[in-house]
Amino acid sequence: MSSQKRDGFTSKFGVIAAAAGSAVGLGNIWRFPYITGENGGGAFLLMYIFFVVLIGIPVMMSEFVIGRRSGSNAIGAFRKLAPGTSWWLVGLMGIIAAFVILAFYGTVAGWTLEYIVQAFQNSFSGKSQTELGDSFNNFTASTFRPVLWQMVVMVLTGAIILRGVSKGIEKVTKILMPLLVVLIIAVCIRSVTLPGSAKGLEFLFKPDFSKITFKAVLMALGQAAFSLSVGMGALITYGSYVKKEIPLLGTCFSIAVTDTIIAILSGIMVFPALFALGGESVGGPGLVFVTLPGVFQSMPGGYVFGIIFFILVFLAALTSTISLLEVVVAYFKEDLKISRLKATLIATVSISVLGVLCTLSFGKLSYIKLFDKTIFGLADYVSANILLTFGALFIVIFTGWYLGKSKFIEEAKLACKVNPVVLNVIAFIIKWIAPIAIGAVAIGTFFIEGLM
Ligand code: TRP
Repeated sequence: MSSQKRDGFTSKFGVIAAAAGSAVGLGNIWRFPYITGENGGGAFLLMYIFFVVLIGIPVMMSEFVIGRRSGSNAIGAFRKLAPGTSWWLVGLMGIIAAFVILAFYGTVAGWTLEYIVQAFQNSFSGKSQTELGDSFNNFTASTFRPVLWQMVVMVLTGAIILRGVSKGIEKVTKILMPLLVVLIIAVCIRSVTLPGSAKGLEFLFKPDFSKITFKAVLMALGQAAFSLSVGMGALITYGSYVKKEIPLLGTCFSIAVTDTIIAILSGIMVFPALFALGGESVGGPGLVFVTLPGVFQSMPGGYVFGIIFFILVFLAALTSTISLLEVVVAYFKEDLKISRLKATLIATVSISVLGVLCTLSFGKLSYIKLFDKTIFGLADYVSANILLTFGALFIVIFTGWYLGKSKFIEEAKLACKVNPVVLNVIAFIIKWIAPIAIGAVAIGTFFIEGLM
């Protein structure tokens, strides 16, 4: 088979590490707490988990099946499996989503680098939540350092992507993920033992359904897709590097469970501390950057902890940025028939340009507003809630209706030991339930509250 000639993952653990590395990132540690906080806490968490199971896993399965069966990048995969149709446009939307996501993601990944330096310099020490908030705002509103850090992120991401799949992506992710979990658990323990933390746990785990709007439902769906890295072909691309001997279903479960546990742990890390430290007014993208330094101050060994923590968050972000860049690079390389080097250069530079605009929208460009959102806010909102949601919708429709159940199951059951009934259930969800559910959320939001 021609696809066997491509670079690829070498083992099941390698696939899980890379895909879980893609899934686990700022989406869990930075975005999940802030979006959950803005959308009412407990009820949002429940909807989020519901969407991970009902939509996330089926879309993930679909992407892996499409990717492995075609052995091609996000656009090429649709061209191969549905020649002569317009389905490749779904892949194109995915490439656009990768551009937009990586642009604002690079901003936040850059912030984590600044925070590593600040942690080293012990600059959180003795500051109140208000002071920590001010220093976050001053930093993000400045020009030179945030842009510099973002460039460092982009260059590092490009450098890993240049090395290819097995030597680059797979190697880095295998080692770091377990270490990150250990550290997060330690921070959780400190956060829940702070006096006054109970209110935070209540906020996270006690659903208050009166806070639920259509938009909140859409955002839970978008966050589920964002966190699992589905809806734009990242896992089509990774799927094309997965060998036939690897069972897809078990892989998907492992990824979804890991990702969800880390998101919930991040919530436990942030909300009890937020309430205990009296920073209730701290919301938005600054949430973890303000709350966590407060926790480090109050824990034994907090100085060292803070340093290691931000280093690991940065590395978790990096295993996600590489998956985003790989989507674009794989496409450029295969479709435009250019070398990996050229493809990486073009992609990295062009995404960086958009990225700088996102970064500066906290400072110099903060006056630019569209739909009441800054460039950064718009990129974040549009990518997760619109591009990924519609991407996921088209991917399940493609798999359920165009590819069809028998081909889906044929690919999904390779090397898979689970009861075939499970695959049938998933095929049913892909064909009927997921499209209807995603469609209902999108249409409901659009007609009742307006999509933006
Ligand atoms: N899932 C990653 C996170 O939670 C972000 C990410 C990486 C992503 N690759 C993606 C999101 C592809 C959507 C699609 O941090």
